[in-house]
Amino acid sequence: MSDSRTPLIAPSILAADFANLAQEVARVPNADWLHIDVMDNHFVPNLSFGLPVAKSLLPHTDKHLDVHLMIENPEKWAEDYADDFHSVTFHLEAVADVDTAIALADKLRGHGTMAGISIKPNTPVEPLLDHLDRFDLVLVMSVEPGFGGQKFMPEVLDKVRKLRSRIDADGLDTLIEIDGGIGAETAAESAAAGVDVFVAGSSVFGKPDPAAAVDEIRASAK
Ligand code: DX5
Ligand code: ZN
Repeated sequence: MSDSRTPLIAPSILAADFANLAQEVARVPNADWLHIDVMDNHFVPNLSFGLPVAKSLLPHTDKHLDVHLMIENPEKWAEDYADDFHSVTFHLEAVADVDTAIALADKLRGHGTMAGISIKPNTPVEPLLDHLDRFDLVLVMSVEPGFGGQKFMPEVLDKVRKLRSRIDADGLDTLIEIDGGIGAETAAESAAAGVDVFVAGSSVFGKPDPAAAVDEIRASAK
């Protein structure tokens, strides 16, 4: 990773104790962002929580809240998150085409939030490469979305490298985020490929000392 990029570590509350979310976020005071996985049991075969639970975190943290919508029909729901959360990411596979994704990203930006686009492991990145200025972040899934605790898929790092070289060549500040199977070791590989934002669920909240785990991931991502 070049010296000009600072890794951002984003613990995923999917792996936290849902009965104690406020206390859980307080256990990672050294996190940069908090990652919020919204799943609808349609786009992915799992159900997590929606807007009311996500909003319940607002009084308990001043960190950047990074919403990852794993839902069908994001055109209907994504804007509901845009006023309260710092970044809102939806899936390319959940919209008709790249033009539709750009239109939704424009709407999200209109609310002042960062607009993110995510791609599943088998979705090619090429259709996005000419449009990276229209998104504030690209979230590359490194597991099939739906569940925490899965094994990192190193082959997705080819997509990260393609994104990194285009973003740098075009002089953009679009962030590259990786999500799924991230721990100290996979964070290092991902950083070398050009990732900026590292989502980590079970490797943070599954540990007895989540703050130490965040520090460890950050150290290896540098
Ligand atoms: C998976 C979610 C991830 C999940 C990552 O669909 O998008 O954010 O929390 O969990 P780990 O870090 O355990 O793979
Ligand atoms: Zn996620």
